[in-house]
Amino acid sequence: MSDSASTPIVDEPFPLPRRWGAEETERLAAAMQQQSLFYWKGPQTEALLAAFRDIYPLQHLFPCSSGTASVHLAIAACKFKPGAEVLVPAITDMGSCIGILHQLLVPVFVDIDPRTYNVPPEKLKAAITPRTKAILAVHLTGTPVDLDAYRDIADEHDLVLIEDCAQAWGTKYGDRYTGTVGDLACWSFNDYKHLSCGDGGMVGTNDDAIGLHLGKWGDKCYNRITGIRNPDELAYNYRMSEPLSAVCTAQMGKHDAIVGPRTARGRQLNAALADVPGVLPPHIREEDTPTFYNYIFRLDLERLGCSQDEFIAALVAEGVNANSYLPDPVYRYDLFQNHNFFADTWPVREMGLTEMDYTKVVCPESEKFLNDCVQLPFNEAMTESYIAKVARAIRTVASRLLKPSA
Ligand SMILES: Cc1ncc(COP(=O)(O)O)c(C=O)c1O
Repeated sequence: MSDSASTPIVDEPFPLPRRWGAEETERLAAAMQQQSLFYWKGPQTEALLAAFRDIYPLQHLFPCSSGTASVHLAIAACKFKPGAEVLVPAITDMGSCIGILHQLLVPVFVDIDPRTYNVPPEKLKAAITPRTKAILAVHLTGTPVDLDAYRDIADEHDLVLIEDCAQAWGTKYGDRYTGTVGDLACWSFNDYKHLSCGDGGMVGTNDDAIGLHLGKWGDKCYNRITGIRNPDELAYNYRMSEPLSAVCTAQMGKHDAIVGPRTARGRQLNAALADVPGVLPPHIREEDTPTFYNYIFRLDLERLGCSQDEFIAALVAEGVNANSYLPDPVYRYDLFQNHNFFADTWPVREMGLTEMDYTKVVCPESEKFLNDCVQLPFNEAMTESYIAKVARAIRTVASRLLKPSA
């Protein structure tokens, strides 16, 4: 029980960081003195590229308008033919799939591991067909996928490995940052992400040929390097303007200060929940550095004898900012169930380039996960003592709800 009937265990407001401050204001003010806010050779864009490369040393980078745009650019730059398959996790954001569908490719959903919530290498391998051309590796919640195993699979099957690091700013696989192992990598600066300018993204690669395409595909297929305006392919305008680059540059300067406390608090909570009956904290490899975009744990509902909603309601009553996670795996969304990708049609299937039927896709681990997990929003302002209270509330609720025989 809580300390008293009226006092919740977490007896303080949910901590919120000050996300933007003097550094962002200063850089924005400098941008406002410029004659142009266009990205090409703009001083804010140049500063962003330098700050980004200090942490993620990728040769070719394109700051863009969103994480969705970054994935679209990565996929488009690979120039796969319509009907090619891209392996994606069943649990991710739509932003991981939009570019795949727009390039007339086929997202193939792969089930997750019940303890890491990421796609395990063996399931990835089992999903490969002669049509598979790429793996979209999503580091969900800021926990790295098994990148060495992914790299081996990609090399063995001649697949392009694209890292979706939207939720994984500062995440390390062993001693390497996520985003530095794949052939391409994508980030999001949207409002919910560790680092943000409201909406923005970054895509990068060390491959020279693909790198040139990234820039062209994000900028109407204009070649800013040669200055020749003669688009030879259909491309997009996904450019990031100078004011947003100014904010992103300041955010990059706070990278370690933002991700570091998240890692520490997440590890603290994981340790504190390790022996709580009925509660399953996420599995984190000792050698990795997750950065906890959010903190998601699972419930052994059989053992607890309650529903996911009842557990969450009990946590909220104890002052914990807790909620359920996504409503469904991505393939259950209406657009997939109805194959409604282009004005009620899916040309790829109508052209006979795929037999994919999303109504037949079932990823049991993903479905079970969404029905028994609890999501805690996470940020760098959380203190050690706040997390200790959250852990105590979870332990208290679990022991209160645990079946007498358990
Ligand atoms: C894993 C993942 N990929 C892609 C995206 C898309 O990012 P954005 O919202 O910036 O388009 C998100 C955003 O939530 C995400 O979490």
